[in-house]
Amino acid sequence: GDESAEERKAREEEAASRKLAADLAAEVAKRRNFAIISHPDAGKTTLTEKLLLYGGAIHEAGAVKARRASRHATSDWMAMEQQRGISITSTAMVFETKGHSITLLDTPGHADFGEDTYRTLAAADNAVMLVDAGKGLEPQTRKLFEVCRMRKLPVFTFMNKLDRPAKEPLELLDEIEKEFALQTYPVNWPIGSGDRFVGVYHRPRKEVHLFQRDASHGSREIISTVLAGDDPTLKDIIEPDLYEQLQEELELLEELTPPLDMDRVRSGDLSPVFFGSAMNNFGVELFLESFLGYAVPPKAYESSRGEISPEYPHFTGFVFKLQANMDPRHRDKVAFVRVCSGQFEKGMKVQLARTGKTIALTRPQKLFAQERSTMETGFAGDVIGLNNPNAFAIGDTIFSGPRLAYPAIPCFSPELFMYIKNPNPSKYKQFQKGISELLGEGAVQVLYSMDPGQTNPILAAVGQLQFEVVQHRMQSEYNVDTTLEPIGYTVARWVVGGWDALEKVGRLYNCATVKDMWGRPVLLFRNDWNVSQLLNDNPEIGELAPYSLPP
Ligand code: G4P
Repeated sequence: GDESAEERKAREEEAASRKLAADLAAEVAKRRNFAIISHPDAGKTTLTEKLLLYGGAIHEAGAVKARRASRHATSDWMAMEQQRGISITSTAMVFETKGHSITLLDTPGHADFGEDTYRTLAAADNAVMLVDAGKGLEPQTRKLFEVCRMRKLPVFTFMNKLDRPAKEPLELLDEIEKEFALQTYPVNWPIGSGDRFVGVYHRPRKEVHLFQRDASHGSREIISTVLAGDDPTLKDIIEPDLYEQLQEELELLEELTPPLDMDRVRSGDLSPVFFGSAMNNFGVELFLESFLGYAVPPKAYESSRGEISPEYPHFTGFVFKLQANMDPRHRDKVAFVRVCSGQFEKGMKVQLARTGKTIALTRPQKLFAQERSTMETGFAGDVIGLNNPNAFAIGDTIFSGPRLAYPAIPCFSPELFMYIKNPNPSKYKQFQKGISELLGEGAVQVLYSMDPGQTNPILAAVGQLQFEVVQHRMQSEYNVDTTLEPIGYTVARWVVGGWDALEKVGRLYNCATVKDMWGRPVLLFRNDWNVSQLLNDNPEIGELAPYSLPP
C-alpha cells in the first residue's frame, strides 16, 4: 500500500505496546497478594497451612512446618532460632488456585517480631486479620492493624478457634468497630461455640455449614455438610436455645450491618468477617473462596513520577526486606523485592534509584509453597528474592524504564532501647562499620544521645530478637564482641517540628531527647502517659509522630 516504512514501524510499535499492555493486564488481574496479621498463638501457622491445603499447594498439612525445620537445620543461625522455638517461615509463598496466583507474605511473629513484620505490610495489597475468638483483639494485632490503616489496606477478619469457648460474636465485632473505627460485615455467623459449636450460617448464600470435629487435626481436606438456611431439619440438629439465638441475631444483623459495599472493603473502611476453626479445617474453604472474590488485585503505588499502575510497561519494584543467612559457610543475603509494575525477567538489567548504578538480576528466586526455584518472570504483586543484596538497602527502588523512586519505608516506632558498647578500643573501626552497615540494612534503628559524654549508640528495636541479631552479626561478621545496657524507655516520638519546635518549649521533663541517624530530634518516654502529659503541658511543641519517613 501507501504506507511508508516509518508509518509501518510506528504501527507495529503501537501494536506491540498494546499487546504488552494487554498481557500485563491479564497477569495482574490473576494476582492476589496478602499478609496475615495476628497475635502469637492465634493460629497463623495453622491457617497458613490450611490455606495452602485448600489452595492445592500441599496435600497434607503439617508438611510445611516439618520441611522448614529440616531444610534449615544445618544453619547455626537457624539452630538458634529453633532453640527458641521460633517458627521459620518463608518470606513469600505462592500458590495457584481457581485461576488466581496467590502470594502469601509472611509476617514474622513471636520472638522474631521486628521491623520486618511491619515492612512486609508495605509489600502487601490485602491483609487477613486473624483473631482468637476466645481472646478478642490482642496487642500485636493492634500494632499491625495500625500499619494496615496507614496503607489503607483492605482487611479481612477471620475469627478462629470457634471449637473452643469464644466471646459473643457481637462483642467481637464491637471490639473491632470501637477500637479500630473499622466497620464490619459478618459474611458468616457462628452457631454456638466450644462444645456447643454447631457451625456457621453463610449469609450471602443463606446456608448452614455444619461443623465436624476432625480427629486428624485437619491434616486433610474435609467436606462439610451444607443445608439450606430454611431446611426444617435444622431445628432437630441445632438445640432450641441456639436456634432461637441464631434467628434473633440474623435479624439483628440485617438491621445493624451496613451493606457489603465492595468499594468500602477495598479502601479498608469495611471488613468482611468470617468465623471458623483453622485447626479443624472449618470455615477455611469458605473464607478462601470469598477472599478470592473480594480481595484487590495488585495496586498502583505512588512514586516520584506520580502513581505507577501495575500495567505500567516498565519493570519497577522496591526492596522491603533484607535477610542475612547466619550460617558462616554460606554467608549469603537475600533482598526481597515487591514487583510494582511491568514484567520482571531473569537476567534483566535494572537501575538502582539511590545510586544510579546498573545491576543485572541474575539469580532471582521464587518461593513456591515449599520449594525454592528460579524465577523466570514476575509481575506486579509478586515477590522476588535477589541474591545480590550487598548492593541494596531497605526501601531501595529498582527500575528498568525512566528514572523513578518509590517513597522510603517508614521507621516504625521502636519500643526497646539499649546502649550498645564496644569494650575493646582496638576494634573501634570494625564497630563503627558494623553498626552503620546493619543500620543500612534495616536490621535495627540507631539513635544517638545528646550528651557529649555518651558516645555509645542506642539500638532501638521493635522486637527483642533484633538485638540478638545485631550482637550475633557484630561478632561473626565484624569480629566485635559487644555488650548491651538497657535504658528504661519504651516509647519514641519524633518531633515533627524539628529542633525549632523543641527550642520553643525549653526544658522538658520525664523524657530524654536524642537524635536519629539523620540528626532529627526524637523524644524517649517511659510510657504513653508521659507522652500525653508532655503534650498537655507543652502544646506549642506541635505534633509528635510515632513513625517517621527517612528524609
Ligand atoms: P501462631 O502461628 O499464630 O502462633 O499459631 P499456631 O498456628 O502455631 O497455633 C497456636 C496453637 O493454637 C496451636 O496449638 C494450634 O494447634 C492451636 N490452634 C490453631 N487453630 C486452632 C483452632 O481452630 N482451634 C483450636 N482449638 N486450636 C487451634 P499448640 O498446642 O500450641 O500446638 P500444636 O501442638 O497443636 O501444634
